[in-house]
Amino acid sequence: MRTAAIVPAAGRGERLGPGRPKALRLLGGAPLLVHAVRALARARGVSLVVVAAPGPDVPAVERLLADFEWGADVEVVPGGESRHSSVGRALAALPADVDVVLVHDAARPLAPPELVEAVASTVRQRADACVPVVPLTDTVKEVAADTVLRTLDRSQLRAVQTPQGFRRAVLAKAHAWAAEASAEELGAITDDAGLVERLGIAVTAIPGSEEAFKVTRPLDLVLAEALLARRRADGAR
Ligand code: CTP
Ligand code: MG
Repeated sequence: MRTAAIVPAAGRGERLGPGRPKALRLLGGAPLLVHAVRALARARGVSLVVVAAPGPDVPAVERLLADFEWGADVEVVPGGESRHSSVGRALAALPADVDVVLVHDAARPLAPPELVEAVASTVRQRADACVPVVPLTDTVKEVAADTVLRTLDRSQLRAVQTPQGFRRAVLAKAHAWAAEASAEELGAITDDAGLVERLGIAVTAIPGSEEAFKVTRPLDLVLAEALLARRRADGAR
């Protein structure tokens, strides 16, 4: 089985505030995207990484990524207006011999390679689709305007991370559906596994990693800098 990874990196990063597109913002001196590609390329069995970059930045991202020795082939395609379309475009660029696909946000730069391997091996061994999940720490309530409607049972809820892993045919079928679906049909589906669930295909959950958190708001970047500094200090010891 040949495993490839797709990196949706074409978002603007509006919640992070003004500046370069989020994937190109710096963490420890290197763009978030470089960290994310490294985590994937370091995982055993990932032989190709396809990045969906913001359209105008494709040439610059190609030059940026060409500067590294990855241990995997790395390609860049232009992303789309939505995360779904960015993933769909990268999926369309995969060679025919790829049969397992991981999808990993550029915005999760510090996901450990062990997590990437755990997701990939779950798909290779026993699942059509696999997501890493972590328990919630806050109490969660449903609220309309300023009125609390109800408290959800937190013990049943999980936050979902990336990389998410799929048999290629399953992911392709899900994205073929998404490409034709209306905004109403897509509803609140924000991830690839959500599309697969919509087709009625089972998704397997495995334990995620706190370190695979998503850089969304400015404070997340502060946490990422601190975690990276700790890793570098541990590595130097
Ligand atoms: N993404 C993408 N194409 C889009 C939108 C998002 O490839 N049209 C990617 C982002 O680059 C990111 C991942 O999807 O790596 C997760 O999305 P998110 O965290 O929402 O990133 P942004 O959309 O960039 O951030 P924001 O929503 O704050 O603008
Ligand atoms: Mg977004």
